Formats: sequence, structure tokens, C-alpha cells
Amino acid sequence: MTRASLDKQPHEVASMFDDVAERYDLTNDVLSLGQARLWRKAVDKAVGARPAERVLDLAAGTGTSSVPFARTGAYVVPCDFSIGMLREGKKRQPWLPFTAGDATKLPFADDSFDAVTISFGLRNVQDTDAALAELYRVTKPGGRVVICEFSQPTWAPFRTVYTEYLMRALPPVATAVSSNPDAYVYLADSIRAWPDQPALAALLQKAGWQKVAWRNLTGGIVALHRGTKPAA
Ligand SMILES: C[S@@+](CC[C@H](N)C(=O)[O-])C[C@H]1O[C@@H](n2cnc3c(N)ncnc32)[C@H](O)[C@@H]1O
Repeated sequence: MTRASLDKQPHEVASMFDDVAERYDLTNDVLSLGQARLWRKAVDKAVGARPAERVLDLAAGTGTSSVPFARTGAYVVPCDFSIGMLREGKKRQPWLPFTAGDATKLPFADDSFDAVTISFGLRNVQDTDAALAELYRVTKPGGRVVICEFSQPTWAPFRTVYTEYLMRALPPVATAVSSNPDAYVYLADSIRAWPDQPALAALLQKAGWQKVAWRNLTGGIVALHRGTKPAA
């Protein structure tokens, strides 16, 4: 069983997700105390996919994050570099065009998608700037990005309780539910080391995205960042 370290070596990250693939969605629901479903609805609304639009769901894993976009009639491409996650996704959602690809070297032409999105994936990519630049490259001028990622609760007392949850409650619960509980030690560590809301917004701006803004969900446990690629 693999647990990635915080230097996020791509082969370690990919094989860690290969190990959790089978029980990934169940573990998510349990560890997020059911909040994951609400977060997905908020992402769906923020992306606002329309019929016939092309949407890239990067780091799509088992494709659970991709399904809501497909339901709108958009053409959704779930892309991920964990073959285990892609295989599990293909079993559950055989109609989706799962594509193997690394976020830092996307296998798509420039200006291919109306919207690009990544849920709980960017934090796991070794080179955040490279992934944001690739997302920008494959987005059509005038297109949009939505990033859903763990962030910093804004109210200090809640932040303290949440950090305690990450450090103390999450590992034993993960041991009971996940096929690779060690992966959830990485989850807690990587969340604590991740940029807060303004810092991630600054990275998006640096990559060229305009009209960057964010919205907190569940008190800032999760943030949805959005941005637009300037029209040509
Ligand atoms: C926590 S899962 C999220 C899956 C899905 N988006 C969801 O919301 O359930 C993170 C995913 O990021 C993928 N990932 C991490 N680094 C990646 C990279 N450099 N390129 C492509 N996928 C990557 C992992 O393989 C894993 O499937």
C-alpha cells in the first residue's frame, strides 16, 4: 500500500489512488459526513455546463465529479493519471470518455474546452503552477475554470475544531472504511499544507486567469475558485 509524501511524487500519488479506488466514493461520503454531495452540487452550479459545451473534468478519479456535467447535455471528458481510478470509473460510468493524462502535460490541443474544472485534485498535483497553466492552455478564449479544493475555515474556533478532526478523528474512521487508511494521513497533511483562499486566487491570477473569485463552502472547509480566460 502506498502513502504519498508531501513532495507529491507523481508515481506515489497515482499508486496511492490506485489503492483506494474501489472504496473511494464510499470513504468520501463517510469522512465528509455527507457534505461531499453538497459540495458537488455547488461545483455543478458554478460550472454551469450547457448542452453541447465541452467540459474537462481534470483529476476526475472515478468520474463521480463528472456525472453532473454530463447530465446537463455537455460533452464531458474525465481525465486522470491513476489507472486504478480510471478503471473503477469506467466500470461505473461506461458511457463517459475516461482519458489517461497528467495534469502538468495534458493530452489536449490548445483552446479545446468551454469549461475546465478540477475537484479535490489540484492539491495532489506536484506542480500547481504547471497544472494551472495547462488548464489555461486547453481552455477556449472566454472559457472558465472552477476549482473545488479543501481550504481554510474562516472562523478561528471552527478552524481549531476542524484541525482536531483532521488530526484525531479522521485516521481511525479511515481505518474502518478505506482500503488504504494511510492515504488518509496524507489527506490530512496535504490539506494543512495547502494555500488558503487568497493564496490560491493569486496563483490563478499568475497563470493568466481573470475575474478570479472564490466562494466558501461549509465555513471554508472547501472553497470554490473561479476564473475566466480572456476572450481573444
Ligand atoms: C481526491 S481524487 C478526486 C477525484 C474526483 N475529482 C472527485 O471529486 O471525486 C484526486 C485525483 O487526482 C488525481 N491526480 C493527482 N495528481 C494528478 C495529476 N498530476 N494528473 C492527473 N490526475 C492527478 C488522482 O489520481 C486522483 O484520482
